[in-house]
Amino acid sequence: MNRKYRKPLIAGNWKMNKTPSETKAFLTQFKAMLPKGRGCDIALCVPAVCIPAAVKAAKETRISIGAETCSAFSSGAYTGEISAIMLADAGCKRVIVGHSERRAMGETDRDVNAKLHAALAAGLSPILCCGESLEQRELGVTQEWIAMQLKAALRGVEAEQIRRVVVAYEPIWAIGTGHTASPEQAEEVCAQIRTILRKLYGGKLARAAVILYGGSMNDQNAPELLAQPDIDGGLIGGASLDPEKLIRILEAANQ
Ligand code: PGA
Repeated sequence: MNRKYRKPLIAGNWKMNKTPSETKAFLTQFKAMLPKGRGCDIALCVPAVCIPAAVKAAKETRISIGAETCSAFSSGAYTGEISAIMLADAGCKRVIVGHSERRAMGETDRDVNAKLHAALAAGLSPILCCGESLEQRELGVTQEWIAMQLKAALRGVEAEQIRRVVVAYEPIWAIGTGHTASPEQAEEVCAQIRTILRKLYGGKLARAAVILYGGSMNDQNAPELLAQPDIDGGLIGGASLDPEKLIRILEAANQ
């Protein structure tokens, strides 16, 4: 983290976990434990049906609520989909775009780009995910892959919009596996992401960009990961389901 230029962000990604009632119970417990300092931003990206409960419970707190994906379209005949405009109207501030689990369900780089634009147009702050597979890492093409994913996702995104985009580096081999990237491995790619942003948007915006690491981050490994200069926070799956663990990660980010 480099607090001089950036405020850290700890974001939970609940995936397909918790009901609306469980969301309410989580937030009651979580709010009571929230550390006083405002040293870092907090977001919870929750299942769509949990958004109203989460928004209500997080009202007048510093917790922002987000969704886990959005449609690339603003309205129309897309049964089951939810637009970024609907999410913003429901009280969401953020949305995850391009998570590897969504990409595995068929989301292409073109879709990710369209969703990013839809999120930005609706006034949301997208958390844009990128990350390589184990095979790609072993083949030594991580750098090229991340550059390709980022450039494709950010196509047409203007400099004034990039301030609202958070990039999350999530190596696929580290997600939900318990195999966290080492602090050095995570830092190497996060620094590379900043270099790509510098080439695309210039030094000032790249310096201000918030870049997260995600993939089995927990209360044990967070301090070391967050100590890296280009890791400005975490996108946390499993460990974000437990309020006590999430609080300990927040405390690490507040150090
Ligand atoms: P994990 O998930 O922390 O459970 O590995 C991270 C993510 O997929 O965002």
